[in-house]
Amino acid sequence: MMIRNQPISIVVVDDEKYICNIIVEALASEKYEVRAFSDPREALNYIEQNSVDLVLTDLVMGEYTGIQVLESTLASHSDATVILMTAHPTVQTAISVLRKGAYDFLVKPFRLELLKATIRRGLEHQQVIRENLHLKGQVEFLKVAGAANAEIEIDDFLGMVARSCRKEMDAAAVGIIEIEPSTKEVLRKVYTGTDELPPKEVLQNSTLDKFAYTKSNKPLIHKKEVEVDGRKQTQTWISQPIFVRRRFHGVINLLIESRFDRLTPGEIDVLAILANSAAAAIANYRHYEDLHASYLQAIKGLANAVEARDQYTAGHTDRVTRLAEQMARHLGWDERRIEHLNMGCTLHDIGKLGVPDDILNKPGHLTDEERTMMQSHPELGLKIIDGIDLFRPAIPYIIAHHEWYDGTGYPKGLKGEEIPIEGRLLAVADTFDAILSDRPYRDGADLSVAVSELVKFKGTQFDPEIVDVLFDLLRAGKIDFVLHYGREMDTSQIEELKPTEKARV
Ligand SMILES: [Fe+2]
Repeated sequence: MMIRNQPISIVVVDDEKYICNIIVEALASEKYEVRAFSDPREALNYIEQNSVDLVLTDLVMGEYTGIQVLESTLASHSDATVILMTAHPTVQTAISVLRKGAYDFLVKPFRLELLKATIRRGLEHQQVIRENLHLKGQVEFLKVAGAANAEIEIDDFLGMVARSCRKEMDAAAVGIIEIEPSTKEVLRKVYTGTDELPPKEVLQNSTLDKFAYTKSNKPLIHKKEVEVDGRKQTQTWISQPIFVRRRFHGVINLLIESRFDRLTPGEIDVLAILANSAAAAIANYRHYEDLHASYLQAIKGLANAVEARDQYTAGHTDRVTRLAEQMARHLGWDERRIEHLNMGCTLHDIGKLGVPDDILNKPGHLTDEERTMMQSHPELGLKIIDGIDLFRPAIPYIIAHHEWYDGTGYPKGLKGEEIPIEGRLLAVADTFDAILSDRPYRDGADLSVAVSELVKFKGTQFDPEIVDVLFDLLRAGKIDFVLHYGREMDTSQIEELKPTEKARV
């Protein structure tokens, strides 16, 4: 496992051999690995095939020029430092080579101290450039960390971490495997890479085993020489563990393909930063989920409190939620939307907590004043959840489930598609269940009553397409009446109902 503790590699190119020798000798006391070439062609070949940090080249060398050496060095090693030497300087040449990316320009003959100082400065400058990578990693980290605080799905977040790793490390493939630390069960795998299909090693479960007996945050690095199109190439496989409070939560696997065996300490730092942010995201996500679960539990408690007060709604919320979920799935809603639906349906009548008992449970007709009070429950519900970001997705369910399709509902009198689809869907499920449910003063009605009510109010109270969705489910025998209402129901009449138009998402 080598993390670039190889010495700094310097190449000297000068067609006058004695100059090569003087420079090699002058640099002998420094901790550099110096290779000198009096044949520029050999030098170009070497530079193309090997890892190089600094090149010192003569400007005029027979048929070759230092510009060629400069250009081909920068083509193979974008952060290499190139210093030109010439005995016949002109301002134009100096400007031109510096523009082409040379770091400096030395006029022969030069004092060896000046040469050493220039090399030292050049390498320091290079260090700064390489450290910039580190800073870039920090920026990436901030971006990633910022996203960790936002409401972002863990899969998306880990995808972001994988993409950042790939970009920062210039990797061909990055795979992240997240596990449940107590059971070691794999929770998710995320991949990003040049090929559509991941090289199997980056998502292999066996990469987790490498960290079975360690708490060390250090990456494991394994290198392999391969040949691609007749050229030597180094494949570097890195496995970076993810620890959350010293518990092993998974691994980031990277494949880096490069012509030169190079991995800078800066890059290893970037990887560690990204692994830490992945760890932070996982920790945050777990907290978020715990928080989410406890909030939902608290709210379920409140919803139960509503049902306990409202004598004829026992079990209503649960049944409506199940039914609405079936309808939403029939419409092809994704899991995130379904999750929001569950929350919204559970909370939809939460505002009834603010309606006095005697109005809520009054068997007969309500006075105008009482009705106004009763009809304020969507807005009261909104006030109850106000300020809890987590419950924001429940808003359309709470506020819009008593709107009518023809615009005569409450609280806002919205019409048609102005009413959020969440509200339109819940309105159908809510009414359907209310008709079928037993109440203290009467048994639940038959399915035929519920169906005719929906047919009657299709287009006035209800969105016709949503009603058709429910009829589709009934026709397909998907509603479990025995489970929900404790009785069989005759669905034969549904067969005769023709859908008005095709339901849409
Ligand atoms: Fe309601």
